Amino acid sequence: MGTERKRKLSLFDVVDETSVPGTKPKLNGGFGGAAPMAGNSLVNTWTGKAYSQRYFEILEKRKALPVWQQKDEFLQVLKNNQTLILVGETGSGKTTQIPQFVLEAVDNEYPDKRRKWMVACTQPRRVAAMSVSRRVAEEMDVAIGEEVGYSIRFEDCSSARTVLKYLTDGMLLREAMTDPLLERYKVIILDEAHERTLATDVLFGLLKEVLKNRPDLKLVVMSATLEAEKFQGYFLGAPLMKVPGRLHPVEIFYTQEPERDYLEAAIRTVVQIHMCEPLGDILVFLTGEEEIEDACRKITKEIGNLGDQVGPVKAVPLYSTLPPAMQQKIFEPAPPPLNEGGPAGRKIVVSTNIAETSLTIDGIVYVIDPGFAKQKVYNPRVRVESLLVSPISKASAHQRSGRAGRTQPGKCFRLYTEKSFNNDLQPQTYPEILRSNLANTVLTLKKLGIDDLVHFDFMDPPAPETLMRALEVLNYLGALDDEGNLTKLGEIMSEFPLDPQMSKMLVVSPEFNCSNEILSISAMLSGCFICMPIEHVHRWVSLHMMFSNWSMYKQVLVHALRDEIVAVSQYYLMKQMVSSGLYASADLPEAQKAADEAKARFGHIDGDHLTLLNVYHAYKQNNEDPSWCYENFINHRALKSADNVRQQLVRIMARFNLKLCSTDFNSRDYYINIRKAMLAGYFMQVAHMERTGHYLTVKDNQVVHLHPSNCLDHKPEWVIYNEYVLTSRNFIRTVTDIRGEWIVDIAPHYYDLENFPQCEAKRVLERLYKKREKEREENRNRK
Ligand SMILES: Nc1ncnc2c1ncn2[C@@H]1O[C@H](COP(=O)(O)OP(=O)(O)OP(=O)(O)O)[C@@H](O)[C@H]1O
Ligand SMILES: [Mg+2]
Repeated sequence: MGTERKRKLSLFDVVDETSVPGTKPKLNGGFGGAAPMAGNSLVNTWTGKAYSQRYFEILEKRKALPVWQQKDEFLQVLKNNQTLILVGETGSGKTTQIPQFVLEAVDNEYPDKRRKWMVACTQPRRVAAMSVSRRVAEEMDVAIGEEVGYSIRFEDCSSARTVLKYLTDGMLLREAMTDPLLERYKVIILDEAHERTLATDVLFGLLKEVLKNRPDLKLVVMSATLEAEKFQGYFLGAPLMKVPGRLHPVEIFYTQEPERDYLEAAIRTVVQIHMCEPLGDILVFLTGEEEIEDACRKITKEIGNLGDQVGPVKAVPLYSTLPPAMQQKIFEPAPPPLNEGGPAGRKIVVSTNIAETSLTIDGIVYVIDPGFAKQKVYNPRVRVESLLVSPISKASAHQRSGRAGRTQPGKCFRLYTEKSFNNDLQPQTYPEILRSNLANTVLTLKKLGIDDLVHFDFMDPPAPETLMRALEVLNYLGALDDEGNLTKLGEIMSEFPLDPQMSKMLVVSPEFNCSNEILSISAMLSGCFICMPIEHVHRWVSLHMMFSNWSMYKQVLVHALRDEIVAVSQYYLMKQMVSSGLYASADLPEAQKAADEAKARFGHIDGDHLTLLNVYHAYKQNNEDPSWCYENFINHRALKSADNVRQQLVRIMARFNLKLCSTDFNSRDYYINIRKAMLAGYFMQVAHMERTGHYLTVKDNQVVHLHPSNCLDHKPEWVIYNEYVLTSRNFIRTVTDIRGEWIVDIAPHYYDLENFPQCEAKRVLERLYKKREKEREENRNRK
């Protein structure tokens, strides 16, 4: 018996516990032979505790998934090959099961070193990494963050015990910076490879190199919709394994005629489903934040108008700039019937394509796919990255329909004709690397030691002009020298999980004696919550139209704010409310007063960045008190998350001995130093106000408008901006007033007039340079 238990299993031997007599559950990682997740044991080998009832319930369902039919075959192919490409239908069990199969095999191979190795599974989206890892932790009957964890930017939910980690592709790339051969991993699974995100594409090239140096490492590339041949060609003939079938069918419907207005058609379809179709939640794909908020509002209103003949609905938005905690709302259950025995409620998730891959939202039966998504496009000539609404690819349409029929049979309503699907949609999504600003990617590649970008083994090499632009930006920032080599500054910058401008601002902030403040501003900007728009409130308002009285209305608003809205936009918000005319005019003075108070409380006349800083300071001064946040219309969760980001950034600063310092708050220079430090990072994001009153971006001469959410009470001659937003007009969002004189002092290399397009800004700068020269001369003469 004993000898049989000690039978040496080599990597990826298929373990059939029934054929190993006398096997016992393995405790504390000892080599016992039984596969930990094979299911016949009563004790969880990872925790040493008895499996819960829930474990067995889920196990039954897992075993019915198509990938289980091919488990042995999969492990055999992986045993014999270093790289494997796996294509399996949506919902067949790739993301949740394959990593567990792999884990089981590796665990058998390395029984004594359980905690020295790991299995990684990448996801392009944070929301997927978080939700899938939670599901797998549940399937393995362990606590999330223990044996199974996840890692997304600014949030690491893993521990020394973690053996299976779901992480965004960007995070794996970051790990490669400190662990170039990714030595902690035995198997890396690149999931949703068809999405061709920037980070996944870089990982392809990188891992090809790593595999050559690490014969013990294995790579699995997975998706439901890959161009298999292209991938096999790229991965040097790696075997392709196909998993046919899915657990539940999805019926696809097309429209007979093309729809003129997809938004209107989507809402109409939601209402029809709600009125006519059996129970089940709905997932609607739309293109962006504003449209989604608008749709949620209209859906709520239209279904509200139907009265009690239909059940209640809960419309839940999902898009990437929503803080992770808010994104989790999509997993909440549908609302109960309004009264006992009444029609059942439905949850309606309205999402961008971030819900297109990987996700299982329990209860979703119906998917509505209008066939559009916002696609990033980058114009290297004017350095503008923008999002354009474009038709999706066939692969995307397939992924979208795959979100239905996961936990029961489903239906997908495509709001386009079948002919259009066949003839108009591209087979695959165009790789992100071909349509992005690559500054950050190039910095990462340089840090990874890849100097020869032109010959890097990209699956689809980016345009030379885009690479040149990225090199140029990094050179202006001082991250690369004139030969294109990483400088000391560039090395430090690359350690921050931020865009290069923000990292530069942080790294130089001690020179301006304000690193404490710049840290707070960066954390607030990275909290991705500053620009949440009025649409959130509108959604609430439409739910509560009956309140025409300001004080009642205010209560509704307080709820909305507490939950969803952001402090900084509150002035804008109040302004909008005043002009929206949604409540009786008698209440206008009171609303106006609230708006003014909100502005007076935190607004800084010199700009939004400083307003953010004020909000952060006030939050800390009030001991992070949730009730203070509530009373002040501040989203407590968002502030808490910013505070957490700040702590992480502080740790990186400490690693590089970057001093934490502040100018005396009473000094005239307090805010000036902060603004100068910001300019030192963002000197390439400056706009100048022309005599006509409109702004032009410097050097690229694009006409832009200050976003209406700004807190300025004047129109400054020069502003730096955090974001360029292309909607119906070109906006710059999160802006701060800066001085022309500072530009000349801080970034003369970029504002070199010999290499500057003709414009008003140039003439102003010429005068400023002359003035500076004169001052210098006077100084010299005085000496
Ligand atoms: N959170 C969950 N709740 C309930 N069932 C789930 C959950 N996650 C997964 N499942 C079940 O497991 C199945 C497989 O999910 P998994 O994510 O592994 O599929 P997949 O092959 O990766 O699909 P996709 O290509 O869409 O990413 C689902 O179809 C569903 O039946
Ligand atoms: Mg998946």
